[in-house]
Amino acid sequence: MKAAVLRTIKAPLEIEDVKISKPKGREVLVRTAASGICHSDLHVIDGLLPMAPPMILGHEPAGIVEQVGDGVTEFKPGDHVIGCLSQFCGHCNFCMSGRGNLCDGTAELNRDEDEEPRLSKGDEPLQQFAGLSSFAEQMLIPANGLVKIRDDMPLDRAALIGCGVTTGLGAAINTAQIRPGQTAVVIGCGGVGLSIIQGCRMAGAGRIIAVDTFPWKLELAASLGATDVVNAADGDAIGTVLEMTSGGVDFAFEAIGLKATVEQAYGMICRGGTAVLVGVVPAGVNVELPALDLVLSQKRVIGSMMGSNRFRIDMPRYIEAYLNGILKLDEMISERFSLNDINIGIQKLRDGEVARGVVVFDAE
Ligand SMILES: NC(=O)c1ccc[n+]([C@@H]2O[C@H](COP(=O)([O-])OP(=O)(O)OC[C@H]3O[C@@H](n4cnc5c(N)ncnc54)[C@H](O)[C@@H]3O)[C@@H](O)[C@H]2O)c1
Ligand SMILES: [Zn+2]
Ligand SMILES: [Zn+2]
Repeated sequence: MKAAVLRTIKAPLEIEDVKISKPKGREVLVRTAASGICHSDLHVIDGLLPMAPPMILGHEPAGIVEQVGDGVTEFKPGDHVIGCLSQFCGHCNFCMSGRGNLCDGTAELNRDEDEEPRLSKGDEPLQQFAGLSSFAEQMLIPANGLVKIRDDMPLDRAALIGCGVTTGLGAAINTAQIRPGQTAVVIGCGGVGLSIIQGCRMAGAGRIIAVDTFPWKLELAASLGATDVVNAADGDAIGTVLEMTSGGVDFAFEAIGLKATVEQAYGMICRGGTAVLVGVVPAGVNVELPALDLVLSQKRVIGSMMGSNRFRIDMPRYIEAYLNGILKLDEMISERFSLNDINIGIQKLRDGEVARGVVVFDAE
């Protein structure tokens, strides 16, 4: 099958013919229909999220089941599915307490060293990214990384739910548990930030302030639920937000992954407010916060991993929300790319030219 392979950090992906193994045990072979390009893929390409190539990236997929291993009972060929990196073992402390997104038992979902690798080229094993590797025509995924979805859900839009939408909606609804009427700021209006904005809207937030540096992204943010927009390129974003809200917001979401914007998010919350870190900050970067203010103003700084999801419950609900017109996905897809053109999609994401770019395959 054809796949985009990361051979060298900071270099374009190589389109190659590679081998995918057959499903064993609890594995499922899926024909990829579409895969969103998320900034986390770029972080790996750019070496900010350290991983060892050769590797097939891509972790925001939807597709159709082709074949299942003999231990799989919940999927069958022809099922439409979304793949998620929050793969769960089902029996560790985190899974048992309903926090499968924090599962620490995922090693058992992988193949052993002495088994044939899931992905390879000749004698060379290719690393699977996040148990998915969706920049490829087919994927061999543990059943616990898949959820079945309605057949009438368009698969290119379903793909977005695989990472960005679940991360964003979940950060607002599950992690922050934002209440009707509360105020929020979202810094960074890419696929993740726009989804946080939609999650805030769906949760009934009173005021949702979008911050970005691209005017067209701020316009898009407003069409998806932001009540106010601030162009960070115009200068003092913290001062602007504090003035607009008479002292800060209940929740500030950081959806970029920069030290400066994490510190900005903290600066925008009111007394008793919460900064929610969603952006992946490069390994080794620490942020500085005024500890005295944190205590005296009883503020909170929390991380949100994949929107604190229980994806087998959340994703089918998000699909209902899309099909009912509550969740907007069509507007979030700026451009579709073939696998051959994936490096163009990656560059456009890097340059801020797309909200979400999606690689589409011929499965549908
Ligand atoms: N926590 C999680 O589970 C999780 C899941 C998925 C993605 N992420 C991370 O979320 C982040 C966002 O991902 P994405 O795919 O939406 O990326 P993206 O590139 O599409 O969006 C980032 C946005 O930030 C804006 N921006 C950049 N610098 C800015 C600044 N200084 N001030 C204001 N705006 C600025 C850009 O214009 C862009 O719109 C990435 O770090 C990604 O790795 C985290
Ligand atoms: Zn992602
Ligand atoms: Zn677990």
